[in-house]
Amino acid sequence: MRALLCALALLQGVGANAGANPNDAAIEAHVEGLLARMTVEEKVGQLAQVNADEGRMSDKLRAAVKAGMVGSVLNAVDVATVNELQRVAVQESRLGIPLLMGRDVIHGFKTVLPIPLGQAAAWNPELVEQGARMAALEAAASGVNWTFAPMIDVSRDPRWGRIAESFGEDPYLVSVLGVASIRGFQGDDLSRPDAIAACAKHFVGYGASEGGRDYGFVGIPEVDLRNVYMPPFKAAVDAGVATFMAAFSDVNGVPASGNRFLMQTVLRDEWKFPGFVVSDWESIIDMIVHGFAANEKEAAFEALSAGVDMEMASTTYRDHLAELLAAGRINQDTLDAAVRNVLRVKFRLGLFERTSTDPAAYPEVASEQNLALAKKLTTQSLVLLQNRNEVLPLARTSLRSLAVIGPMADDDYEQLGTWIYDGDTALSRTPLRAIREMVGPRVTVRYVRAMETTRSRTTTAFADAVAAASSSDAAVLFLGEESILSGEAHSRANIDLPGNQMDLVRAVKRAGKPVIVVILAGRPLTIEPILADADAVVYAWHPGSMAGPAIADILFGVESPSGKLPVTFPRVVGQLPIYYAQRNTGKPPLPDTLVHIDDIKVRTSQTGLKNKSWYLDAGYEPLYPFGYGLSYTSFVYSDIKATPSRARVGVPVTVRAVVKNVGKVAADEVVQLYVQDLVGSITRPVRELKGFQRVHLKPGESREVSFQLSADDLAFYGRNMTRATEPGAFHAWIGGSSRADLRADFELTAD
Ligand code: BGC
Repeated sequence: MRALLCALALLQGVGANAGANPNDAAIEAHVEGLLARMTVEEKVGQLAQVNADEGRMSDKLRAAVKAGMVGSVLNAVDVATVNELQRVAVQESRLGIPLLMGRDVIHGFKTVLPIPLGQAAAWNPELVEQGARMAALEAAASGVNWTFAPMIDVSRDPRWGRIAESFGEDPYLVSVLGVASIRGFQGDDLSRPDAIAACAKHFVGYGASEGGRDYGFVGIPEVDLRNVYMPPFKAAVDAGVATFMAAFSDVNGVPASGNRFLMQTVLRDEWKFPGFVVSDWESIIDMIVHGFAANEKEAAFEALSAGVDMEMASTTYRDHLAELLAAGRINQDTLDAAVRNVLRVKFRLGLFERTSTDPAAYPEVASEQNLALAKKLTTQSLVLLQNRNEVLPLARTSLRSLAVIGPMADDDYEQLGTWIYDGDTALSRTPLRAIREMVGPRVTVRYVRAMETTRSRTTTAFADAVAAASSSDAAVLFLGEESILSGEAHSRANIDLPGNQMDLVRAVKRAGKPVIVVILAGRPLTIEPILADADAVVYAWHPGSMAGPAIADILFGVESPSGKLPVTFPRVVGQLPIYYAQRNTGKPPLPDTLVHIDDIKVRTSQTGLKNKSWYLDAGYEPLYPFGYGLSYTSFVYSDIKATPSRARVGVPVTVRAVVKNVGKVAADEVVQLYVQDLVGSITRPVRELKGFQRVHLKPGESREVSFQLSADDLAFYGRNMTRATEPGAFHAWIGGSSRADLRADFELTAD
């Protein structure tokens, strides 16, 4: 069986629509048959998701499952407990309906992959899919059949702790990676034992929480909801995602968990989503706190009427739906529709045929193969931000000694990131260990932790760090923020390197040796203050189990860096929100007329500034743009063409360019296509990512890369809220970041 599963896993590549199931009609018949036999209490039971306290089955939980009062359990991952829960559900409850076993399998299970923001930096959907596949197999071996992933909230605010769980700021990149992740979890056929149901979350707008403060109000005009925040969710529906999760957010005055426009009008009526929607943790009773529902009964009424099918953790459905039904406030059809949605997913998952899990039937968990995949994904996720005087890569042959400094250099837990309930620290290979293994006994490695945590204020150990750097050929500092500083409810208002880390970099620089800073963090940090002292900077996100070997490969040039930023890096926090796909404004900034606050004369009533959209003290440029990342080689782009350059709307346009590796080492480059629609019925972003390809080029090698743009690729919701491709003029750029300047123009005509 194990061999069979391995073979099946390998065969499951990029699939067709995972939602297309030849047994759809049979499943509907099963659902109706079951529904006809259910009491109101049993129906309500299917809509309840109950937390397994500390992963265990209490007597209360056992009794509730036996009574048919539970549709899903979350957070049980001990396989014996899971099997016993399923046995009670199937053998002891009246109708024998199996349970959905939910768990946050966010970036790996035992084997921890980079945080999703790090995975996004690899711009490699195939690897993201393989990573999700690996996680699905590891989790399924424990009896988990449903993950609350991927999180596909477009995230443009690094203060928001949950940006770590996101694929970044761009609707297109998030859509592509979200779909890859859904395919990885669900495979081609949800009913196979190695598939688990995915969950597109959090519908919708959570990433735009006001001020980057978690759970904050979300005010997004409908047109931006549709053009920016919803596309990844629409793509998830098209990819056959089994479930959705409602956001915690109050979206434009109506909490998502009670938002009929989102859950009914958009998700069901427009997108025809056939799966079910789960609330977020207690988000239904939260509607009372929001001031949207007067009490639990009203909260249950609003949520079910909106189209939230299953309630996570709180019990308003269990306590009030029967009463609401009896009073005629909700009707049988509404209740049945929710139950149908849940049962349909259970049938699609094949749970009725397969009610217990045999871990031995699955591939080995945390195998060397899984760790190798984690390493590959991590390697591609590392972004080289600065490399003055080409201090990187370090020369393995001539290096005699190296100082390794900092609180993140040798911490098997903190390299893993947020949401690692099941992650195994014993698998972690730290940077210090990997560097030692790579250089062997010939090179003296001097390790100084220097700070107890990234937040430490004491500087007493700095002298040791400086001494280590002075007596070594170079110093590598591992800095950033611990896992706990990002993730849910862990937003930050100041996103500088915490504690005295900036002083540490300054101190080590005084040793006069090349200073390389590797940053492990759950978000973009405002790192401009260290750039003068750090000769090289590698951004490593929270890299996961294989942080060390991946980072060592980059530091020593075994691999050339190829990660690109999936999110804009601000210079200072006051620039937020800052993202590349902004609108132009009526007075866009011009570099040559910018006057800095320090240069404004005293007692002037006029600065002489043209009225432009910028900050007097921070200009308008980010520190690093979206899509940016250096390599150990250089790529030159040329020969861009858009053909046809004039076409009717509906005729695809191909944009192509040649990319050449003009440096000395073989490397990957992520080739990016951006488009601007110059005039629209609503204003359009100055650029939008429309395609990307990761290519591998040897020194001197060049390749033509082409992208086809269909009418759909250029469509957007306009003034009247319908989606259309509007005729007119377009710019297209191809290059290595959102700053690409190689441009071709084309025009779409109405006839
Ligand atoms: C989070 C969800 C998560 C759920 C279950 C909530 O607090 O917002 O993303 O899936 O908990 O753990």
